Amino acid sequence: MHNKFGAVAKRPKATDCKSVISPVRIRAAPLPLTVAAQVATVFSLVEPPIPDPMIKTVSLNDIDLNVFDAGSGAPVLFVHGFPLDHTMWREQLGALSQTHRVIAPDLRGFGRSGVTPGKVTMKQYADDLVALLDHLQIRMPVTLCALSMGGYIAWQFFLNYHGRLERLILCDTKAAADSEAARENRLQMADLVLNEGTASLAENMPAKLFSSRTLETQPELVEEVRNVIRNTSPEGVSAALLGMAGRPDMSAWLGQIDVPTLLIVGRDDQISTTEKMRGMSQAIAESTLVVVDDAGHMAPLEAPEAVNAAIEHFLLSPRD
Ligand code: MLT
Repeated sequence: MHNKFGAVAKRPKATDCKSVISPVRIRAAPLPLTVAAQVATVFSLVEPPIPDPMIKTVSLNDIDLNVFDAGSGAPVLFVHGFPLDHTMWREQLGALSQTHRVIAPDLRGFGRSGVTPGKVTMKQYADDLVALLDHLQIRMPVTLCALSMGGYIAWQFFLNYHGRLERLILCDTKAAADSEAARENRLQMADLVLNEGTASLAENMPAKLFSSRTLETQPELVEEVRNVIRNTSPEGVSAALLGMAGRPDMSAWLGQIDVPTLLIVGRDDQISTTEKMRGMSQAIAESTLVVVDDAGHMAPLEAPEAVNAAIEHFLLSPRD
């Protein structure tokens, strides 16, 4: 059973807070049936989608977004990583929808959302998120929970829509821009994907996304994620790669973040390392770093109990 966020009153200091979550083995609450059914339906991309009130199509800006929207209470907006979709948050959506309104779009170009070819900037994705909140008539500031590329989008959300943000949860992400070599690599990958599709990305990316333990012990999970990548639009993937290649370096700007911030990183993350995220946490005044054992870049999927416990603890902490 869930510990209903009981005893936690104060936000811990910016530090490696593994100890906060380690002794308390909080289990994610069982998904309410409809949530579980929805997530299972969406995750199994071989089957045609079954309409469900929690999934809606929202037309905004110049695009149709596929959006998961469930629960009630303070809003938490989930932003997925590359090249995935909202289903990467399935464990968090199930648990948190019992106490919060959880909103998780497929970003443009991903999942079942519409695709715009060319390049999509991180700012454009952030604009879409705010247009989505407007469409859903959510005027109160939200908690933004974002992973990796979602984090790059979160920087833009903060910079451009500061008043819409209550708290930040940054999972397995970076503030630095790409190196020259990384940028070049992205441009080549964008070409490859446009010419040959997403098959090789689906083949190769899981080795970087998951810890070696997850690769060994959770092959079904790895295959599910591989399927999501396989089914993602090559144009959408390419547009995001070009957008990420051109994103600015936010490292020197982290000190300006003035909302409570939780950083979560899988201890074995090869893409956004613990060391890098510790540095980010030190630069953000009101922040807490949680290092999750037995997880890599996809900590929310690999170690959902620990990630949910950290998020719940954080959301319960009063703002100063
Ligand atoms: C992600 O998980 O979103 C990607 O690893 C981000 C990136 O390629 O920099």
